[in-house]
Parts: sequence; C-alpha cells; structure tokens
Amino acid sequence: MTGAEIRQSFVDFFRARDHRIVPSARIVPESDPSLMFINAGMVPFKNVFLGVEKPLSPRVADAQKCLRISGKHNDLDDVGRDVYHQTFFEMLGNWSFGDYYKAEAIAGAWELLTKVWGLPKDKLYATVYETDAEAEALWSKITDISADRVLRFGAKDNFWEMGETGPCGPCSEIHVDRGPGTCDQPPGHVCGVNTECARYMEIWNLVFIQNDRAADGSLGDLPAKHVDTGMGLERVTALLQEVDGNYDCDLMRGLIGVAEDLSGTPYGGGMGADDVAFRVIADHARAVAVMIADGILPSNEGRGYVLRRLLRRAARQGRVLTLEDPFLGKVTDRAIEILGVAYPELVESGARIHSTVTGEEERFAETLEKGLGLLEDEVGKLESRGDATLAGDVAFKLYDTYGFPLDLTQDILREKGLAVDEAGFESSMEGQRARAREGARFSTSKGGGFSGVVSSFAGDGVDVLESRIVALAIDGDEKDEAREGEAVEVVTEQTPFYGESGGQVGDRGLIELSDGSLIEIEDTQKPRPDLIVHRGRVKSGAVRTGQAARLSIDTGHRGATRLNHSATHILHAALRNHLGDQVHQAGSLVTPDRLRFDFTHEARLTDEQITAIEAEVNQHVRANADVSADEMSYDDAIAAGALAFFGDKYGDRVRVLRMGDFSTELCGGTHVSRTGDIGLFKLRAESAVGAGVRRIEALTGEGALSLVRQKESELREIASLLRSSEEDVADRLGKLLASQKDLEKRLAETQAKLVSGASQDLLDGVRDVGGVKVLARRVDQIDAKVLRELSDKIRDKIQSGVVILGGTDGAKVLLIAAVTKDLTKKFNAGALIKEMAPLVGGGGGGRPDFAQAGGKDPSGLDAALERAFELLGS
Ligand code: ALA
Repeated sequence: MTGAEIRQSFVDFFRARDHRIVPSARIVPESDPSLMFINAGMVPFKNVFLGVEKPLSPRVADAQKCLRISGKHNDLDDVGRDVYHQTFFEMLGNWSFGDYYKAEAIAGAWELLTKVWGLPKDKLYATVYETDAEAEALWSKITDISADRVLRFGAKDNFWEMGETGPCGPCSEIHVDRGPGTCDQPPGHVCGVNTECARYMEIWNLVFIQNDRAADGSLGDLPAKHVDTGMGLERVTALLQEVDGNYDCDLMRGLIGVAEDLSGTPYGGGMGADDVAFRVIADHARAVAVMIADGILPSNEGRGYVLRRLLRRAARQGRVLTLEDPFLGKVTDRAIEILGVAYPELVESGARIHSTVTGEEERFAETLEKGLGLLEDEVGKLESRGDATLAGDVAFKLYDTYGFPLDLTQDILREKGLAVDEAGFESSMEGQRARAREGARFSTSKGGGFSGVVSSFAGDGVDVLESRIVALAIDGDEKDEAREGEAVEVVTEQTPFYGESGGQVGDRGLIELSDGSLIEIEDTQKPRPDLIVHRGRVKSGAVRTGQAARLSIDTGHRGATRLNHSATHILHAALRNHLGDQVHQAGSLVTPDRLRFDFTHEARLTDEQITAIEAEVNQHVRANADVSADEMSYDDAIAAGALAFFGDKYGDRVRVLRMGDFSTELCGGTHVSRTGDIGLFKLRAESAVGAGVRRIEALTGEGALSLVRQKESELREIASLLRSSEEDVADRLGKLLASQKDLEKRLAETQAKLVSGASQDLLDGVRDVGGVKVLARRVDQIDAKVLRELSDKIRDKIQSGVVILGGTDGAKVLLIAAVTKDLTKKFNAGALIKEMAPLVGGGGGGRPDFAQAGGKDPSGLDAALERAFELLGS
C-alpha cells in the first residue's frame, strides 16, 4: 500500500464505524496562543474536550498536519540524526467526544492493525498507565493479545499531555517488535518496549482524555471522558512498506530523490553527514511548504522565525551536499505534489511556496558563506585551544550580522562535539535589546526602575481622581522632591492615566496638589503590568512623595484616542472578513490623531479591496453597535472566540472587548461605548512594512472629517487654478497636459531652427582681435541649454577663435565663454568668465576651453561683453 492508500484506509475504517471525517485544521492553532503550532491531532478539538464547544459529531476521524518544533513536543534537534524523527508529520487519529471509551478504542485499533493491515499479532505489545488496571484488563478481554505483552509504565510513557496546560489523560500505546537486527543502540543495550531502541517502535497512542492540567500544575477532572488517538502516518507507512525508517517510505523518499538528483550524491540511509543532510532537507521542505501554505511567512519573530530557522537550516545542509544554487524550492515542489493529494491548500499555494522559499534562500546565501567561514575560523581556534565552547559574542555576531539563528550555529557545532555559551549569547542579545530600549527612552529617564513601587489604573471611564504620590524620579534617579521647572517621573497609588500599552499611546493631563503646585503630564508609560509612570514637568511649586494629589487626564486626548483604538478592532474584523482568517494583527499604533494597523498579508491590497474594507468599517460604525468589556479567565476568553495578539503575554484574568457580533478581542485599551461614536473612518494609506506584513493608516472622527475637508479644499484650489469646475478638473488637466506636451515639442523645434539660423547671423559679428577671431554677442530670451548649443556651433564654424555669448531673460544673466582647443594656451575661458561675471553681479568659472557664469544684473551685460574684447586685446 502507498502512504496515500494507508491514509485513506484509516479514514475509511472509521467512517464505516460512524465517524465523521473532517479535513485537517491549519497548522496554526486558531485563537490559542498557548501553542505555536498544532502538535497533535487533538489540538483542534481542545475546546470540545474542555466542554466549552459542541463537537460536530460525537465521533470524528482525520489526518492532521502536525509540527513538533516548539514547546513540550520539540523534535527539531533530533531530525536527520536518526531515521525516525521529523518536525512535520501527519497524524492519523480517531476521537470519541464523551461517546465510546477505552473498550471500543482498543478494539478498533487492534482490528485495523491486525485484520485490515495484517500486522502479526505476536509482534505487537500494548502498554498501559501504571494505575490503569481497567485498560490492562480490557486488552486481555477484548483482543487476543497475549497477557504477557500488556505492560505497565509510569507517567513519562503513559500519561499524555498536549502542552503545559490543557486536556490530558492516561494512555495506552501499541508497540511493534521489528525483530533482532533493527536495534540502533550501542552493543550491550537490552532491547525492549520504551528503551529508546528502534527495534521496539510505538505505532499508535490511545489517550483516554479525562483530566485538565491547570496553569498551577494541578490536575482537574473534565466534565466527560473522551478518546484521542494518534498514529504517525509516515511511521506506520514505513512499517507496512517494510522499509528502514520513515524517510524511506514513499511519502518522503521522493524528496530525498530530488536532492540526490540535484547533488549527484546517492542517499545511503546511514548516519554520515550526507545522509543526515538528505533527511533534514526532506523533513524541513515538507514543514516549510505546509507552514507557508497555512499563511506563515518568514520573519524575525514568532512563527515566522521558526519558518526562517527551518529554511536556513535546510539551506545550510544543502552546502553539505555541495548544493550551491537555490535548490530548496525544487524539493518543496515535490513535497507539494505528494502532500497535495490530501491537503489541497498546498497545491493552491504552490507558486507562492516556491517563490517564498527561493527568495529566502537567495537572501541567506549572501551571508551564509561568510558566516560559515567565520565559524570555521572560530572552530579552528577552539580546537587548537582544546576548548569545547564557542563564546556567546561570536554566536551573537553570527546571529546579528550573518543571520545564523542560534540553533543553526548549535546544530553545526554539535556535529563537531562543540557547544555555544548560551548564557553569553543571551547577555549579548540582552545588551542589544537594552541599547535599543535606551535609544527609545523618554529623555528624562535613565531607568530609575521604581523597583518595589506599584500603582493601578482606575479603568476607562474615570477621568479624575484623588491619590497619593508614592515615588518621584528625576533623570532616572529616585528623589523625594521635585521643584518648579524640573522634568519629573511621578508614580501615584492609583491613576486615571492610561499607560502606553497594546499600541495605544499614554495619556496626557495634570497632577495638582492642594498647595497649588502643578505638574503637567506629557506622557504616561507602563513599564511593568503593575506600574504606571507619569512623565512631565513641574509647572509651579514643588512636589514631594507622600503628598495627596488630584490627577486629571486630558479628556480631548483620551476621547480622540478612544475612537482610533475602537476603529482598529473594527478594521481587524473587516480585514479578516475580506482577506480571510489567516490575517492576523502584527502590530498597531493608536494616537489621538491617527491609527496604524499592521497585519499579516502577502499582497498589496487592490483598490477594490481598500474601498470594500473602508466601506465595511463605516457600516459597522453606522450600525452603532454596543461595545462592552468583561473580565474573565484567559481560557474562557479564548473559548468565547476572543482574538489574542500572538506574542503578547496575558495574565490569568483578561479583558475581553466585544463590539456587536463582529469583533471579540483581548484588549486592555480604552474604547468608545458605541461604534457610532467613531463617526467616520477614512483609510489614508496602505503599504508594506516587511515581508508578508502590510500596514494601514487611517483617521477617525474629527480627524477623518478634516482629511476629507482638506482634500476638498485642495481640489477647489486646483479647480480654480485650472479655471474649471471641480467635476471637470481631471478632464481639464488632461487637456492642459496634452497641450503642454505639444507646445514643448514645438518650442524644441523652433529653438533648433533658431540655433542654426542664429549661428549663421552671429558669424557676421566675428571680429579680428590681434589675428584671433573673436565673437562676443548678446543673445537674449534663450535658455541656457540653447545658448550652450549655440556657442558650440559657432566655435565649430570659426574653427579657431574665441566665442563669448551673454543673454538675459530680463532677470537672470547667463555668460558663456568658449575657446577653441588650439588657443587655450593663450586664452583661458575660465579666466575670462571670472573677469566678466562681476559686471553682471554674479560669479562662475570652468575649464580653459569652456566656462559659464550666472548673474543677477542684466544692466551690466553689455559692459561685460565689451570687457571681453579688452581682455582679449591686451
Ligand atoms: N494526542 C496523542 C498523541 O499525540 C494521541 O500522541
């Protein structure tokens, strides 16, 4: 059977047993920032297990795209080094959501493996969790496995968890004995189930999901009991095809084949560097193809950086096989063909995958060679010193200058038994971050830190409150007092001021003391979740810690900011509606004057899309939907479908901001109470800010109206300049441009005629000065270029002599002096011009054969030309 047939027979088997077959979910978990990638078939059903979402059907089966590359399940460093580990794999799974339980799960798995796929029963083992006597007994009761092949293991092997938190439970695994000779451990190893040896291989995991791991580590019971099974497709395919390892099954071998053809090196299936490289390339090509198809783009953070790291690791392994050119795109093309049968999104994104992969590879190629050279030198030094650890700052340089992700450097070093000083790398990294922060700091702050000081935000809706000053800092140093004129940072117990966060700028306003002292606050920051720092200047009097203070925000500033913040949420919803749910927020800026929203999207938005998105936002505004904020647990928020900004850290309690039925986001910012308050939303610009990230800038409320007014007044002005009505402006301008073009053409023709005619006329004015032909004439109303052409022409005609031309348009004067080459020893054009220029109120210079000058005094032009004769005569 081919891998594709095995996949099909799995789903057919469960379809016949009343399971609903569903397509694979995207590799990025929807609305679950606790996880970077789907790492098991059950992840898309997490909310069903938790009891907060209803399943489509009580029984489901599928083949799910999985990546084990981050968090609890991370196989990246093992990929290539044996013939089993992969980052990307397909997981076949069947689920019961509160329907059947252990008995049917075991019976189904046994039947498919032994009856349908014909695996020999006497080669199979079953494991159960050490306290799960029920599962142990069921194996003997339901199947004909021999009792001595049902083994108990502890939590490490038989209690399955998806991540640090979430649904989990005891499991029962099925292992196969592949026979003597398949062990991959050193001599002396005692083979057996769960001994890390390739002879005994796990093929199917049946998890009995009944618990929920909370963030504090405690284990709770779920409302119902479920079954979650998972079987790696490549592994079971290799077993049924009787080949040696996952990379030799038909789902993966073809990818190695592409690299073999390109490099002319054969794959040997062993542990040498070449064979490792083949496997890494095959694995990573599949992973990157799937990631790009699912909307991830290479970047320097989050999922995009995982993608970039995979691409760079694969490119580097290409060098091991002496593959120099961008080659990966050819391997991903093959991955698309093979996987596309089951996951059509790969085929749909085929061209984009190829160009993204190739583009990344080409860019990295520029620094890869240099970085490898540097690393080689450093390794040489280490080895000669007998040292095994590469200094952190070298690894940082490789990262910062040559684009080597830390794990790539580690991967290369590992082959030589060397490591990186990770702490040193981190401290170089932290140094860079600190420098970046320092550069971005408010001028009064050198980082007072306010350690141990806390303050709280009174919440949106409170504009004024009384509180007490708990800390002050001047120039970053904590003080007890600040006086008039000093720039100061102030912390109060409580504050109505919003500290900059979530893209929204901090508030401005006043802090007043009972003795009349006043601090004007220009900005508010939130350096820690529990600290809000007001930054401003003491306008009058003095302030001391411990004093009572009245804090009032600038409500105009806050009000305008609110409109823009709420508008970003509506815009986010409209973007997802028009461009698809793969669109995610990548950053934002919300100020009183404007908003900026960055989001993941490959292509420039078309004019139609922009119009449609702007229209949709305004529709939501006009619908005047209710805006509400509720505090709830993070899990409840995600279960309620709230969009979270990946990369943000959220506490246990989060604020969920809802607008009508179209937007639910986690957000701590300040918002309007009804969308109608926004008044008008005007999209001003759309641009790219990096690979795969676009930016929209927009205005709301009064700002949007002003923009429209400004455009109107510009249009009015243009219309009046063109002496046209506003409606006819474009038409009129078009005609004017056409007529200008025509005039320019005619002017050029006329001047050309003039030059040839004038040069003839002018020749009549040539005088003989001491045996040298000299022409010094005035030619007005001719532009500089024509005047130069004229002087060239005359010089050519007289063959030997000096030509001086001067002209004016009534305001400016231009003088030109040209001397034929044979005479430059005698007369210097530059020197002549220098003498003449002052007479027209200007200056200039040039070469011995050609010079020019500009002046501002046309009245001196004739005198200047006369001067030329004097200069030449003497
Ligand atoms: N969720 C289980 C696993 O990934 C089936 O092994």
